[in-house]
Amino acid sequence: MLDGTNELVVTKRIPDQTLKLGDCLAVMKGMRAHSIDVVVTSPPYNLNLAYGVYEDSRDEAEYIDWLYDVSLAIKGVMKPNGSFFLNIAGSNSRPYVPFELVVRLRKVGFFLQNHITWIVTAHPGYRRALWGQAESGGE
Ligand SMILES: C[S@@+](CC[C@H](N)C(=O)[O-])C[C@H]1O[C@@H](n2cnc3c(N)ncnc32)[C@H](O)[C@@H]1O
Repeated sequence: MLDGTNELVVTKRIPDQTLKLGDCLAVMKGMRAHSIDVVVTSPPYNLNLAYGVYEDSRDEAEYIDWLYDVSLAIKGVMKPNGSFFLNIAGSNSRPYVPFELVVRLRKVGFFLQNHITWIVTAHPGYRRALWGQAESGGE
């Protein structure tokens, strides 16, 4: 194990954590600048999925603009040496979305450390697999 033990399961309690539920841009406005070490996010993929209130079928340019604005807000709350794990997806009809966003983020000072392509293969019970979807993550 990473912590040097031979245990298969290690449970650690993290006391006094605060969870905030809300629009990410509004939530980040209330956060201290450059105070966050790590951001991990899985935003909507703009694949017309059925979320509760969120409309997941925006115009492509509008969707990229929104993710760009969210990423800029993330940069504002992250420490200069912080890490940003972004889990986003393209699709067969919109394959450039993740790459266009990454190129824009490069221009505002994000450095791509790694890129992982996750090919979602068909398995019983996974409804999205029928779309031949791939998801991408950058850091
Ligand atoms: C791809 S899903 C991620 C699901 C999450 N990783 C999970 O396992 O539950 C995208 C989520 O982002 C939420 N969402 C959409 N717009 C948002 C916003 N402006 N601020 C915060 N969350 C938002 C959606 O409601 C949805 O739950």
